[in-house]
Amino acid sequence: METLWLDPKVNNDAMGIAANLLKAGEVVGMPTETVYGLAANALDGKAVSKIFAAKGRPQDNPLIVHIADFSEVSLLCSALPQKAKLLADAFWPGPLTMILPKSEKIPDEVSAGLDTVGIRLPSHRVARALIRAAGVPLAAPSANLSGRPSTTTAEHVKSDMNGKIAAIIDGGECTVGVESTVISLAGDTPRLLRPGGITLEQLRSVLGTVEIDHALYETIGADEKVSSPGMKYRHYAPKAAVTVVCGAPEKTAEYILKNAKKEDGILCFDEFAKIFTNATVLSYGGMHDLEKQAKTIFDKLRTFDAYDVPQIFAQCPDESGIGLAVSNRLKKAAGFRLISVK
Ligand code: TXA
Ligand code: MG
Repeated sequence: METLWLDPKVNNDAMGIAANLLKAGEVVGMPTETVYGLAANALDGKAVSKIFAAKGRPQDNPLIVHIADFSEVSLLCSALPQKAKLLADAFWPGPLTMILPKSEKIPDEVSAGLDTVGIRLPSHRVARALIRAAGVPLAAPSANLSGRPSTTTAEHVKSDMNGKIAAIIDGGECTVGVESTVISLAGDTPRLLRPGGITLEQLRSVLGTVEIDHALYETIGADEKVSSPGMKYRHYAPKAAVTVVCGAPEKTAEYILKNAKKEDGILCFDEFAKIFTNATVLSYGGMHDLEKQAKTIFDKLRTFDAYDVPQIFAQCPDESGIGLAVSNRLKKAAGFRLISVK
């Protein structure tokens, strides 16, 4: 299949062409404020199954449904808890996905057999225009091959998906850089399933108590039952094995300096880039610049693939604010191979 490259800044018809492809049951790479997504008509099980084929995604991993207006929730969900309304008022449009009881409109391909569905109202102008033009909600996982780092530019999407999907819309670089926060409102207490663009602190300021799923802290066994199926697969992984070094930045830098060999890769904060002279060094933002770290983390993980490094040592960010999401992506990329230094 030839993959069309659509740039709305250059081609006035870009959005119309993409919307028609979606209406015809095809898959389109679309920008969002978090990461690029692989979109298809969420109400068409056959279209959705093409997403799984393009990504090589395990069938038991459900997809997020993207909407352009809050009113669409009532069509897609069988109940709307008061807490969901509070969160929508505070954080939609934006990088938050709510897991809610699903309505019978949601095909099994989207929910992977669960009785819930993830709903997100993105803030990206192009994403919302596309949902409106297609006239249907869009199911969309991150637009990477399954297991690989997520995609934050249209070029990333092309490198994973060229020839596999009908089109890619170039909407520039994603502004957040890590995926949406996933919170389940299907049980009694709200539960954080994936940290992301909306921080835990922000969620707690609206909801009070928010539980944290244990999958954020450990590797899940392949047979274990988890509340979010995506948690149990290795994710975000560059080709080389990753070791995440946690602790005060000066100490983690010291550890890496001692242990990295010259053929290894090092992912560090900007402040330390100069001290590592004898390895392949990429820096991903200042040690206190959590937003920049979020914005660049996936691009840096992808960049290491171009160098033939056997392993990568990464300085773990501060886990406050969006740092919790960045450290979660790094730890998952490492398969939770962590070293703590005092
Ligand atoms: O920012 C984002 O959320 C991006 C953009 C494209 O919107 N999308 C994204 O989708 O990251 P994906 O499929 O890569 O990650 C969605 C995560 C997966 O871990 C999946 O298991 C979980 O959300 N999920 C989806 N539906 C769920 C459900 N009904 N119950 C529990 N977890 C669910
Ligand atoms: Mg993903």
